[in-house]
Amino acid sequence: MQRRDFIRICAATAAVSAQSAFAARDLKPRFYARVRLVDNHRQPLKASSLTAGENYIFHYPFEGTPCFLLNLGRPTVRDVRLKTEHGGTYVWPGGVGPNRAVVGYSAICAHRMTYPTRQISFISFRDRSAASKISRPHTIHCCSEHSEYDPASGARVLDGPAPQPLSAILLEHDRASDGLHAVGTLGGEMFNAFFAKFGFKLALDYGPGRARRHVSDQTVVTPLADFCKQQVKC
Ligand code: FES
Repeated sequence: MQRRDFIRICAATAAVSAQSAFAARDLKPRFYARVRLVDNHRQPLKASSLTAGENYIFHYPFEGTPCFLLNLGRPTVRDVRLKTEHGGTYVWPGGVGPNRAVVGYSAICAHRMTYPTRQISFISFRDRSAASKISRPHTIHCCSEHSEYDPASGARVLDGPAPQPLSAILLEHDRASDGLHAVGTLGGEMFNAFFAKFGFKLALDYGPGRARRHVSDQTVVTPLADFCKQQVKC
């Protein structure tokens, strides 16, 4: 997200507010630490190095909250108006980087919070080659109860029981260096419920108290295939 994109988010949010007398509540972006995305060698990740259609995982804004980083390989929709389960409205600004094709989302399913672990993942992006009879191409699909999200449109819900889009991770792209930073979230966060439900397992996986620690400075981006031993593809 360039600075002007942030201004555009605020303007679009204000426009939604002015236009809709029925909007229950307009959600503002929630800003956390500005964190550089780095590769496995701790070098700044370049947006152009992301393989289109590949699932990448990073952790933000907490050390135990996984997120997807995706190069969709095609331009995303701009200024998508979305709604949370509890009626909050917000405007997703679109992707960043070349062709505005790079997007970030919380990888915690908005239904029952299935998420990728080191052992197994039931949720992932499907490009054309990974789609099946159950999962459509170019979607993020959760095999638990088949919620499906459109990452090119703010992860709006296309199918299944999820009551709201995946929470978006706000990204900044620096054109000069081609680097990426995560700066905040937009939409319905589920972090409190996530920590309440999975606290015990998160303590085992990340160490006592670590999962809730805020990420600062940098976060490592890893292909899902390297992060996770087994990917369930339905
Ligand atoms: S947890 Fe993802 S669809 Fe139910």
